[in-house]
Amino acid sequence: MTWSFKKFDVLPESKFLLWEKLLEARTGIQLASQQKVLLQTQIAIRMRELDIASYDDYFDQVKQDNKSGLVEWQILVDRLVVKETTFFRHRPSLDFVRQFLKNKISREQLDGSIDIWSVGCSTGEEPYGLAMLAHECLSESEQHLYFGVTAVDVSLPALSIARRGVYGQRSMSFLTDRERQHFFRPYEDKHYEVLPRLKKRVCFSQANINNLDDFPVQLMDVVFCQNVLIYFRRWRRREILNQLVSRLKPGGLLVIGLGETTDWQHAEMQRIDSNEVQAYIKTS
Ligand SMILES: C[S@@+](CC[C@H](N)C(=O)[O-])C[C@H]1O[C@@H](n2cnc3c(N)ncnc32)[C@H](O)[C@@H]1O
Repeated sequence: MTWSFKKFDVLPESKFLLWEKLLEARTGIQLASQQKVLLQTQIAIRMRELDIASYDDYFDQVKQDNKSGLVEWQILVDRLVVKETTFFRHRPSLDFVRQFLKNKISREQLDGSIDIWSVGCSTGEEPYGLAMLAHECLSESEQHLYFGVTAVDVSLPALSIARRGVYGQRSMSFLTDRERQHFFRPYEDKHYEVLPRLKKRVCFSQANINNLDDFPVQLMDVVFCQNVLIYFRRWRRREILNQLVSRLKPGGLLVIGLGETTDWQHAEMQRIDSNEVQAYIKTS
């Protein structure tokens, strides 16, 4: 690969708008105007890596409807999305899921399995956290139920980190000592690996939540989608939420991040009265 330290011209506003439109049309993500610098920087880095001299040539390459266009698009999207996450990032939401599952188990309201969907799972901390609490709920009960977590994200590099299941201190800072000891084993270099018995309960797949029509998931007991919708326009958030509702079992639980939508209602969903979590139960 040829590296040149050529400085690129500033991306003109008209070109920025084209990139912005493409990103939003394909992923739903709306770039804030201050993210122009991020977009320009990432495009320039990629152009240097590929030894491409003009913004137009790179745009054409990314837009190509073939394998190389698709691969290039995946690389760029991965560099533009915010993948910030940790284990138990918002503990009140996870505690709420735990209590919901405990109630379902004790009232024998589950149909043979607990099915959980982590939407926008990034590098895996969120779905593994959900698997930990489902495991704990089931091990406290006498019932022999299966549980599985389906985890999706648009970023392939994030998914490969997730599948590996190896994490450092930064990701694990909100875990209790007990959780660390119970669900991880030491790995190299002060890192920890999620135990295989938990790993095998989490299935990672690439999916674009802007286009879930073809995503084949069974109906879920819990859909967990936090810190993703904030990157989408309000009307798109509502559409995505409606899609997520259609994947819930009757009586299922939808959890989003606090304040991630303020203007969404659904005839089949009842909002939980809480200041700590933003969650909805499917009533029919
Ligand atoms: C900030 S992270 C949130 C991770 C985790 N849910 C949490 O709360 O810690 C946002 C994730 O959403 C993913 N994402 C953004 N747009 C997406 C889309 N259209 N389809 C699927 N995932 C998307 C990003 O790749 C990123 O991993």
